[in-house]
Amino acid sequence: MSAPESPSSRREFLRLAALAGFGFGIGNGLTQNAQAAPDPRALSFSGIADIGKVRPRPAGSKPVWNLTTKPTDKVRVAFIGLSRGMSHVDAAIHIPCAEIVAVCDLRQDRADNAAAKVKAQTGKQPVVYAGNEDIWEKMIARDDIDVVYISTPWEWHVPMSVKTMKAGKHAFVEVSAAVTVDECWQLVDTSEATQRHCVQLENCCYDETEMFVLNMARQGFFGEMKHAECAYIHNLRGDVLWQMGGEGGWRRNYHTFLDGNLYPTHGLGPVAQYLGINRGDNFKFIVSASSPEYNLTEYRNKNNPNAGRHKDEKYVCGDMNTSIIKTELGRTIMIQHDVVSPRPYSRINALCGTKATFFGYPDRLCVDGSHGWTYEGEKMKKFIKENAHPIWKTTGEYARKGGFGHGGMDYVMNWRLLDCIRKGITPDMTAYDAAAWSCILEASVCSVKNGSMPVQIPDFTRGGWKELDPLPIVS
Ligand SMILES: NC(=O)c1ccc[n+]([C@@H]2O[C@H](COP(=O)([O-])OP(=O)(O)OC[C@H]3O[C@@H](n4cnc5c(N)ncnc54)[C@H](O)[C@@H]3O)[C@@H](O)[C@H]2O)c1
Repeated sequence: MSAPESPSSRREFLRLAALAGFGFGIGNGLTQNAQAAPDPRALSFSGIADIGKVRPRPAGSKPVWNLTTKPTDKVRVAFIGLSRGMSHVDAAIHIPCAEIVAVCDLRQDRADNAAAKVKAQTGKQPVVYAGNEDIWEKMIARDDIDVVYISTPWEWHVPMSVKTMKAGKHAFVEVSAAVTVDECWQLVDTSEATQRHCVQLENCCYDETEMFVLNMARQGFFGEMKHAECAYIHNLRGDVLWQMGGEGGWRRNYHTFLDGNLYPTHGLGPVAQYLGINRGDNFKFIVSASSPEYNLTEYRNKNNPNAGRHKDEKYVCGDMNTSIIKTELGRTIMIQHDVVSPRPYSRINALCGTKATFFGYPDRLCVDGSHGWTYEGEKMKKFIKENAHPIWKTTGEYARKGGFGHGGMDYVMNWRLLDCIRKGITPDMTAYDAAAWSCILEASVCSVKNGSMPVQIPDFTRGGWKELDPLPIVS
């Protein structure tokens, strides 16, 4: 989730900086520290006939869905990528069990600033790794790190996560964890081979409302859950077109060669948890269709961002992508992606059961027996507070009042995930969730490319979902 659409002060700063030529390099066609990142076009994309095929578990590997590890008083953490990653640093500074050992960014200034902030607030100086695109490998080779946070552009997620786990650390990776289905299998296989966690940092699972719905769903409030709706609708076209040193530098690239749902997990993660995906149910197949592409091209033509740098780019991703996922238990999930249209932010966040229906944006709840909304407005807010998830009850107020990222949910997520590592218990999101939620990117692209044909979604648990219980309510 990035800054709202234009003209945000941050983006305006980046634009002016770019035009002034300091640090964002309009003149020479390179950013200050040019990122020779892996080329996402060179990734291995599957065909419709083999995308859903389950790969056999390599010999010697074991499932990680109930993986427990040695409890510890201090969880030693390190960070790669310090733009979005700073929100995790800010949270970790205020989480008693976390000890920040090292920070890494391609950009020296970002790494130095992060280290200075940690030193100022904790008294401890983290080791700084910066200046080239491979320096993170030196950091993850240290023997005093338990968890590596990875908040880099999408194409780096899997190479960094795989090497992190192979180096004996848990990988906490930003969304989406992977671009292709092949990469999703790499995450699962590496987590199973190394017996390290691969946790996708899906903060939207930890927002107050999503945790309330999960809490109620687990208590049977919705009855039989049969349908859900979710989305990532966020007008980012200014960011993806203006920013040279941030997301725009890499995110826009995906709009030039992929048509589908490019960012599925913010909406899908919470809904998958309500429905117990990978634990009692599983995604089976997807059908997907995209609207025409208009808004990115139109915005580019009207604003001529970055002095015409993008004038010849062709955007192929339809403005609105709509997919339907069918699950093994026959439930349906509607999921949308639109990051360019002029419309308000929404993750929809809807859950329909035999006894009640919830819709977000704005939050509303209909309980069986009522034809309108039983709860909305202030009444809804009160009901959410009264039925808050125990984790939100423990950490929510502190997170909100502390001004942590995204209304506090970034703190709640980090607190909970690091507490799982501290206790040695399985985190709420495993490698199977990272894979199942992220694979919707390529699966939707594959369906769109094949005239909206159904595309099989691989079972990353290799049948394990049938034996597992949904996540419990934990306090
Ligand atoms: N969960 C959320 O709410 C949320 C919000 C924003 C971004 N994100 C995700 O976070 C990730 C990063 O997004 P961002 O907005 O911070 O992007 P960004 O481009 O602003 O920042 C990426 C950072 O990674 C650094 N980096 C790139 N390659 C590197 C390398 N090889 N070694 C070390 N550092 C490297 C860059 O210098 C930069 O500081 C993306 O996956 C994005 O989808 C998630």
